[in-house]
Amino acid sequence: MGVMRLGFVHVRETDLEKARQYYTQVLGLQEVTRQDGRHYFKCWDEYDHHSVVIENGGLGLVKMGYKVESPDDLARIERAAQTFGLTVGRVSKGENLGQGEALRCILPSDHVLELYAEAEQPGTSVGVLNPDPWPSQQAGISPSRLDHLLLTAEDVQTTVDFFTQVLGFRMSERIVPDQHSQELLAAFLFCSNKAHDIAFVRGPNGKLHHYAFWLDSWNDILRAGDTLSRNNLTIDMGPTRHGITRGTTIYFFGPNGNRNEVFSGGYTTYPDFPCITWTADQIGRAVFYIQQEVNERFNTYLT
Ligand SMILES: [Fe+2]
Repeated sequence: MGVMRLGFVHVRETDLEKARQYYTQVLGLQEVTRQDGRHYFKCWDEYDHHSVVIENGGLGLVKMGYKVESPDDLARIERAAQTFGLTVGRVSKGENLGQGEALRCILPSDHVLELYAEAEQPGTSVGVLNPDPWPSQQAGISPSRLDHLLLTAEDVQTTVDFFTQVLGFRMSERIVPDQHSQELLAAFLFCSNKAHDIAFVRGPNGKLHHYAFWLDSWNDILRAGDTLSRNNLTIDMGPTRHGITRGTTIYFFGPNGNRNEVFSGGYTTYPDFPCITWTADQIGRAVFYIQQEVNERFNTYLT
């Protein structure tokens, strides 16, 4: 019961055609369809209708969707979110292309979160009967799935309270000022067995730091770097390793300026996983373990 995973990100792009080329040829996602000025994409190993939506009009996040196990979860979460004090509403079936009814929550961080239980599942090209391990037709980086996103919040604690108390997420890691302080500078939350399914760092409300796609190995991360360079895209940091999650990573910018990440590895979590704490004086190792420092652009650039 409860929230399963990040289902989709819906973002704004200043130049849709440039973005479309990037998503299909560089990231190597499949374009599912386009309708009413929106383009829909999915990764090769995702069964649901889509995982990325883009539309015109600046940069940043329009909304994100997390998929829950059943419609009963929506009713339960709706009551709990109202009790928590959030503004919630229903999104009727079909309003989000290929998806069933959703529950829309305006987070304490001002981001729009939609929870939904049902999506059309056109499946994948390798199928579910005696499948090949990967499809014969692949372009660009070709991640297998969307993985997580990092957002900024003025009040990280209240946003974390909502995710933990209402949605059932758990905190795998946190950054605090020092070991005697509980003040959250950043929080990494999971609803699955992964090291994180969403993260919040202190910053302005409503802003996007990055959304990340999953790759299977460190070698795939390196090859992704080659593909990004070949296509003249700007790298923010990497390839390197995070102290937090212990995953391997590259941060880079799409052609219009939204930041993306390719991510691989990271440890496995369970409900009894103790929260790992990083103190602010160690933030360099926490974020980029090898470089031991965080570059200014990574700290300040948001869309
Ligand atoms: Fe990330």
